[in-house]
Amino acid sequence: MMFTAVRGTKDYLPNETEYFRYIEDTAKRIFSIYGYKEIRTPIFEATELYLRSTGEATEVVTKQMYTFTDKKGRSLTLRPEGTPSVVRAYIEHKIYAQKPLVKFYYIGPMFRYERPQAGRLRQHTQIGVEAFGSASASLDAEIIAVFFALAKELKLNNFILVLNSVGCEKDSCQARYKKALKDYLADKIENLCNDCKERFLRNPLRILDCKNPICAPYIADSPKITDFLCSECSEHFDSLKEYLDKLNISYQLNHLLVRGLDYYTKTVFEFIYLGSGFGTQNAIGGGGRYDNLVASLGGPNIPAIGFSIGLERLYLALQNEQIKLPGENSFLVFIADRNEEKGVENYDRSSVLAFAEHMRMHGIPTELDHRKETSLSAKLKLANQLGATYAIILNADNFRIKEGLAESDAVCIVKDMRSGKQEEVPISQIVNYFLAHKTGK
Ligand code: HAM
Repeated sequence: MMFTAVRGTKDYLPNETEYFRYIEDTAKRIFSIYGYKEIRTPIFEATELYLRSTGEATEVVTKQMYTFTDKKGRSLTLRPEGTPSVVRAYIEHKIYAQKPLVKFYYIGPMFRYERPQAGRLRQHTQIGVEAFGSASASLDAEIIAVFFALAKELKLNNFILVLNSVGCEKDSCQARYKKALKDYLADKIENLCNDCKERFLRNPLRILDCKNPICAPYIADSPKITDFLCSECSEHFDSLKEYLDKLNISYQLNHLLVRGLDYYTKTVFEFIYLGSGFGTQNAIGGGGRYDNLVASLGGPNIPAIGFSIGLERLYLALQNEQIKLPGENSFLVFIADRNEEKGVENYDRSSVLAFAEHMRMHGIPTELDHRKETSLSAKLKLANQLGATYAIILNADNFRIKEGLAESDAVCIVKDMRSGKQEEVPISQIVNYFLAHKTGK
């Protein structure tokens, strides 16, 4: 039997992981400029946490969670998203008591049992940010600016910011809207898809998210949530738009954007990739305010906002736009040692192993041939396959390493693997030679 990766999961090989690492490193650099510090939380939590935050009636909770019972009979769930864990940790460690404003970022795997398709996996990676402690729309604008700064750094332009407000519970602006939506849909319910019939009873806002074409005409004519906002939500939304204008960040308003998670209040947004190949899975990131979540999970009344990016989708978008990794550093020296004198059988590799270590200790990426029986030409072939920039051809008996220095009068041959040019370099000079070539001096 041949094992393959489980449906909806993927292996990423070095040419892809290199790209991922570039995105992650760039994100970390940008986050740190904006004051975000890393938080790492476990990848599984008590199932109850998601019921009380993500929301009992959401698709994520009802259909997509990987839930299991541990040996003590506790119900645990592989995290489908990062926000609940970060909020739990924020409350558990009483971080609010240390600083009034706190910003976190995280990078890690999330698990959702969804039907796999392009850009949709059962294990995906999110790069997320969460900021606690301010209800001001300036923080909303700033966190959106974080994404734009990252996109600029990664040279990704082909996306739009879609923006909406879903109101709040104060003055029950969201409740008034839900009632208006239900009144509007009441005589159309029979025409909606089965999922929406269910949503009508449990959470009518989710109907606006429905992608089923039979629901589309009813949804398009539905009342707009922004017409129902209380004065506080409406002022908040207006100031956010003004702040974004000031920052030259353009946006598209979409009153149908409600997001699939229950904790949002006021601002919600998504970054939608405009290129092809993504089908309906074109959100490279999304988020919003969640001013009641900390309190509803047992913490103090502290407002917060965040978003997260799907790393695999961002990667696909960058690939689609043919955005290349900047200057890959592929410097590699390969030691091709001659061993004819001693014969292949009892070849002692210790001096060449020590020589490779000597080079590596000086920060020079170095590789050698660990195979038993290889000729010089087979070694040079391997050097090529590994992408070596230089090969050192030497006689392994001609030098010694003493107190970190190559001690020898011997000379080796350095072959430039790109041009084929060869030159003789004294072994005692070899480290300096490569340090100079590595930095291009
Ligand atoms: P979300 O919109 O559910 O939000 O997920 C964030 C991003 O993760 C999506 O925009 C998408 O790029 C990626 N994503 C989600 N599901 C999958 C999947 N099955 N396969 C591949 N990529 C996927 C959240 O999870 C919120 N916690 C965001 C947030 C942070 N809101 C406030 N703070």
